[in-house]
Amino acid sequence: MTKVFALTTLALVAIVCMAQDDEYKTWMKTIGAASASMRKNVDAKSGPEAAADGEKLAATFEQVRSYWAKTNTSDAVAAAKTGHDAAMDLSAAAKAGNWEQAATDVKAINGACASCHGAHRERGADGFKIKP
Ligand code: HEC
Repeated sequence: MTKVFALTTLALVAIVCMAQDDEYKTWMKTIGAASASMRKNVDAKSGPEAAADGEKLAATFEQVRSYWAKTNTSDAVAAAKTGHDAAMDLSAAAKAGNWEQAATDVKAINGACASCHGAHRERGADGFKIKP
């Protein structure tokens, strides 16, 4: 009985972990698309569009931050927070038409992607995976 229980628990844990990874992938796809759109809209100086991209990035970075907070992975939490704060700042700068500030924010956001990917992303058999 105990053995069956243990196996069931293991299977459930595996399913939950896989679901979390899928969710994480969805966030990264959202972030990838929003950041490409953001760069395009900042280049074109399209205020409302760039502001919307910034808001979407900030909201998704917040989900990413809380994911890493659960395991106290402080460097990943910090990178997600940097991305979040820079995206909020970019949103405000785009609304105000402050394109110099927006360009600085784009750099900070890109830096956050690179620093977290360097530490916590690795190539798996089929695409990228999380390195805890
Ligand atoms: C706090 C950590 C962190 C930050 C910040 C971060 N990423 Fe990621 N990213 C990851 C990890 C871990 C993976 C690997 C897991 C995966 O693919 O879902 C990943 C995977 C990806 C992928 C591949 C998704 C796939 O199909 O597997 C893309 C695209 C991506 N990130 C884009 C970005 C961009 C663009 C930014 C910045 C605007 C960014 N990420 C910021 C951690 C991060």
